[in-house]
Amino acid sequence: MLLWILSDLHVELTRGWDLPSGDAQPRFDVLVVAGDLIPRAERGVKWLRERVTDRPIIYVMGNHEAYGTDIQRTFEEAKASAEGTHVYVLENETVCIGDVTFAGATLWTDFALKGDAYRAMMTAGDRMNDYKKIRIAAYQRRFLPHHALTRHLKSRAFLKNEMRRPRHEGKLVVVTHHAPLPEMSHQASRGGNDNTGLDPAYRSDLRSLMLPGSDDGRGAVRPPDLCIYGHTHESFDAVIGDTRVVSNAKGYGPWLPQQRTWDNPRFDPNLVIEI
Ligand SMILES: [Fe+2]
Ligand SMILES: [Fe+2]
Repeated sequence: MLLWILSDLHVELTRGWDLPSGDAQPRFDVLVVAGDLIPRAERGVKWLRERVTDRPIIYVMGNHEAYGTDIQRTFEEAKASAEGTHVYVLENETVCIGDVTFAGATLWTDFALKGDAYRAMMTAGDRMNDYKKIRIAAYQRRFLPHHALTRHLKSRAFLKNEMRRPRHEGKLVVVTHHAPLPEMSHQASRGGNDNTGLDPAYRSDLRSLMLPGSDDGRGAVRPPDLCIYGHTHESFDAVIGDTRVVSNAKGYGPWLPQQRTWDNPRFDPNLVIEI
């Protein structure tokens, strides 16, 4: 199966660039979009449906999908507009296409990357737009780092559960927005987000789930065949344990219509990998 892998297209901060169309599109079976397509996920669903009409699309919300809105509300509206179509909006859910199971979640983070989760949550709460621009509880309250942590733990439990299921010959592809591994600086295109104080809000270390045979007492976890992520605006492709891990994020830009540059210079609009 050929997967066309993209993330962080940030349509809201893009001028004069669009998804390749017609003959300019690569050969693919499934398009995977790992979040930060556009604020309001229902607009993301519409954008995708207008551009790819005849093949399945896996779409996971990024943090930016919830900017200026209520995170649950935009998710529900996206689900409603994707209902019955070829777009699958996944949050702690799976969809099977052929012999491949796609498990999707935004993921958020555990803030534990540098060891001091409390401090990392305070820093993120002070400095990140996520905790100023996203609402919860029917717009009544602000989304805060502890809400992100709760969501992370729920998604992590969901993913582990999927990894415990017998898969026989089938493959498992995990799609998240936040990164499932610490920065691998030899690979990252520009260090992604340079400010290490915020790193724990971008990444969690889930590498133990990529090693065969890890067991927390509730059954052995079989690592996914492939993990796809976004959020850090980098290009990444490496095998960790039993899992290939891939990111292909555009990031912001082009800023002007005549420019052909964007945040991540290594972004490949036509990146396809075979699973
Ligand atoms: Fe992004
Ligand atoms: Fe993001």
